Amino acid sequence: MKLNEVDYDKSFEYVYLYKRMWPYVKPYLFRGILGILIAIPVGLLDGIPALAIKFYFDHVINGADSTFAQKVVAWIPISIIGFAVIQGLLMYLNNYLNDWTGKKITIGLQKDLFKKLLRFEPAFYDKNTSGLVMSRFLNDPGGACGGIITNLKDLISTICSSFALVGVLIYTSWQLSIFAIFMLVSAFLPVTLIRKLVQRVSHESMKIGSSVNTNFYETFNGNRIINSFNLQKYQFEKFLDQLIQSFNLSMGYSKRAGWLSPAMIVIGSFGIAGVMWYGNHLILNKTISTGSLFAFITALVLLYKPVRTLGNTMAGMQGSFVSMNRVVGLFDIEPSIENHPESEKIPTIKDSIKFENVWFEYEESAPVLKGINFEVKIGESIALVGNSGGGKTTIANLIPRFYDIKSGSIKIDDIDIRDIELESLRQNIAVVFQDNFLFSGTIKQNILLGKFNATDNEIHKALKDSYLDEFIATLPEGIDTEIRERGVRLSGGQKQRLAIARAMIKDAPVVILDEATSALDNKSEAIVQKALDKLMENRTVIVIAHRLSTIQNATRIAVVNHGEIAEIGSHDDLMCNPNGAYSTLYNAQFKFTEQTQEELQEV
Ligand SMILES: Nc1ncnc2c1ncn2[C@@H]1O[C@H](COP(=O)(O)OP(=O)(O)O)[C@@H](O)[C@H]1O
Ligand SMILES: [Mg+2]
Repeated sequence: MKLNEVDYDKSFEYVYLYKRMWPYVKPYLFRGILGILIAIPVGLLDGIPALAIKFYFDHVINGADSTFAQKVVAWIPISIIGFAVIQGLLMYLNNYLNDWTGKKITIGLQKDLFKKLLRFEPAFYDKNTSGLVMSRFLNDPGGACGGIITNLKDLISTICSSFALVGVLIYTSWQLSIFAIFMLVSAFLPVTLIRKLVQRVSHESMKIGSSVNTNFYETFNGNRIINSFNLQKYQFEKFLDQLIQSFNLSMGYSKRAGWLSPAMIVIGSFGIAGVMWYGNHLILNKTISTGSLFAFITALVLLYKPVRTLGNTMAGMQGSFVSMNRVVGLFDIEPSIENHPESEKIPTIKDSIKFENVWFEYEESAPVLKGINFEVKIGESIALVGNSGGGKTTIANLIPRFYDIKSGSIKIDDIDIRDIELESLRQNIAVVFQDNFLFSGTIKQNILLGKFNATDNEIHKALKDSYLDEFIATLPEGIDTEIRERGVRLSGGQKQRLAIARAMIKDAPVVILDEATSALDNKSEAIVQKALDKLMENRTVIVIAHRLSTIQNATRIAVVNHGEIAEIGSHDDLMCNPNGAYSTLYNAQFKFTEQTQEELQEV
């Protein structure tokens, strides 16, 4: 499933999205609600300064009763400070609670998304770039959570603050409030207009962000190729292109959404001008007091901030819904290779691996394997040979179920592998590829990946059998030497032997070797081959190799061409047919490589 294909239609279905987020919010509900409730007084307390001004003017500046005025004069400043302290404390608590709940919810989402990431089959990784996957899994949970917590809190506190201030407006003069209401309504209209724009921009910028991620990843991992092919300029231009795209996108957004704030300033100025003009009128008529007018103007000015924030918060909210939609979309993609309720555990393979009329395709209606049949009995070995692109690797990848077949069946001990519990299936198989991934960490840690509870003796034996012991003895830190990411400190042959040691310690009854020596020079090949021979001892082996001796010794050889088995049989059987696929291949390829190898050995 390609991530881009997840639809974005649900980002306006707020109730649906909140429902889907519910399981992640539920455990932290109490603190979440508490945080949001605290946002209410924090917002409401914004009304206090404006009210204080009214009292101050009405009773102190224009105060008739002097003893009461004295009291008010003493209490107003103190209560202003008092309320501010309360508001400050509540705000701190509010922010702390919100941060806490927000991060907890994000972690909950990320945990589940990462579990899902680990469950995906190789086909998922074939179709999606690392950058896209990374941004989806790393950024979106936080973004989604922002809509549940931070933006919601801001929304509530600004709404409350607006309510309190509007309350002050109406309390001081309902006539003047008409202007304020007009201001509020006009501030909301533009926000709803840009909803769609926010959604599109957020989607687009995620796409660009992910291609930037991919670019970084490739610059990092493809560093040697970039240097050797002098691709710096090429790589830089790709990056430049992404920068320009991202610039254009955000400028487009600024152009189309940037008028919001200025428009509100203008609308606001109309409001204030109107109030001044009409307020003067009302004072002359003695309809309102000077204190009321001052308080009104103060409240109006204070209202400006929450109303403006409201616009941003609403836009932020929409962005969060887009993220939520993407997170939900990820939760909805189900890995296609999974256990089913009746999956059977197989402790160890006892009888055979059998391909029965297996058809397979990577892409819809482009069959790569077309009716493959063969059987490997326990203890036997089969060598797959044939032209490049014929389908050998594909056959090998089907056995541990990296991909599922289209039709036919693959059976282990007469059980379809789709009915075998995945973990027990894979526990039975050790794979060594041409290029094996090593993890950052020490040599020992990498070997232990094959069996976490291996004893020192087992490790020692694996190192010996993979002919790594001498090399390790030369390292000052020995087996605890850090090999860093991708094993940069090791030569090709050493990496390969480490991968073999890892496979050995797993001690699986079935071994799959896919061109495990073909990336090596003759000298390292010889020693890696010796390690492989040890690995193959007493095991059922599926081997894809170019080395004649390995192939000759196989119980059976299958020539795989164009997704079909052209010929199958032992070396001697197949050589009997001088025009057969195998003899042709043998004459064209193996004979010469073998000759050169023999010559080399003589030298
Ligand atoms: N992950 C993949 N996605 C799509 N096509 C693939 C993938 N891997 C291999 N193929 C195609 O499948 C065919 C068989 O490839 P492969 O099994 O690797 O051949 P071999 O190992 O015999 O060289 C090739 O045409 C190749 O292009
Ligand atoms: Mg291959």
